[in-house]
Amino acid sequence: MANIKVWDLEFEPFMTHNQIEERVKVLGEAINKDYYDKAPVFIGVLNGCFMFMADLMKEIQIPCEMTFVKLASYSGTAQGEVSQLLGVGIDLTGRHVIIVEDIVDTGNSLTHTMAALSSHHVASVAVCSLLLKPSCLAHDFDNLKYVGFEIAPEFVVGYGLDYNGQGRNLRHIYKVCPNP
Ligand code: IMP
Ligand code: MG
Repeated sequence: MANIKVWDLEFEPFMTHNQIEERVKVLGEAINKDYYDKAPVFIGVLNGCFMFMADLMKEIQIPCEMTFVKLASYSGTAQGEVSQLLGVGIDLTGRHVIIVEDIVDTGNSLTHTMAALSSHHVASVAVCSLLLKPSCLAHDFDNLKYVGFEIAPEFVVGYGLDYNGQGRNLRHIYKVCPNP
């Protein structure tokens, strides 16, 4: 597989679509087992999750629902930043929720997603992220239950992940080449 260029940066092959598929299968099997009687609601956080979500859902064989959201954050009056999930479209009261993310880096955006979910009175929340950069994590999560791959703190694109808007369409995942 060849290197690719996205904008000004060169990227080298990191994970093939096949490797990703194999791992997504395992994640799906684990969720099928853990949630067989829970009719979970999968919530994909756009945009990055779209390809992972599509492949993951094909592995889910239990009753379930799914939706996609966008995370909106704005400056609140007294409490500082306020986060809101746009487009939920399902009453989440008493539901078992699985948040689907492309990547958790510092965990800042996941923290906002969790805060926004807290007003929805769900029964439980677990997180399923394709990628995790453990050394970048700045928050503790006790519900980061399903992780595809733990990676070093390198910048990656493809399979939904972008660099400045481009690269989401790539079927493999690439990592940025070191500066020449
Ligand atoms: P956070 O630092 O965990 O809040 O990650 C925030 C967002 O940064 C993620 O949802 C991604 O959209 C983006 N991001 C983090 N690391 C990468 C990467 O290596 N490639 C592409 N996007 C990334
Ligand atoms: Mg994301």
